[in-house]
Amino acid sequence: MKLFLITSLLPVLASAVTLSIPANTKAGTTSQITWVSGSFDPPTWSLFLMNSSDPFGLKGILGENIDPSLGALDITLPSGLKATNGYILKAVYPDNVDRAAGWSPKFAVTN
Ligand SMILES: *[C@@H]1O[C@H](CO)[C@@H](O)[C@H](O)[C@H]1NC(C)=O
Repeated sequence: MKLFLITSLLPVLASAVTLSIPANTKAGTTSQITWVSGSFDPPTWSLFLMNSSDPFGLKGILGENIDPSLGALDITLPSGLKATNGYILKAVYPDNVDRAAGWSPKFAVTN
């Protein structure tokens, strides 16, 4: 069962955008993120800040119509975010924000 899960997840991971966590994770500050594109990415994507344990927990829209070939972007974390370890960045299809193009690892925001 475990083996089946691993092999069925791998092609998905290999084709997704892999986002870094922000260089500075203090709420209200601007810092750079970078990413590695996947093989089946949309031509542009939007960047959401999400609650890592809530698929509908949108915490902020950090960018729209991002050109994947840039590879890096300055983002500003919203001020007033709760200081906790439970955020992820999610790249989404611009015409269907429920469809993820990729994720960052989970990270903590500080105040
Ligand atoms: C994320 O969602 C969980 C479950 O709903 C909640 O307990 C937690 O406080 C939320 N975290 C943030 C940063 O909103």
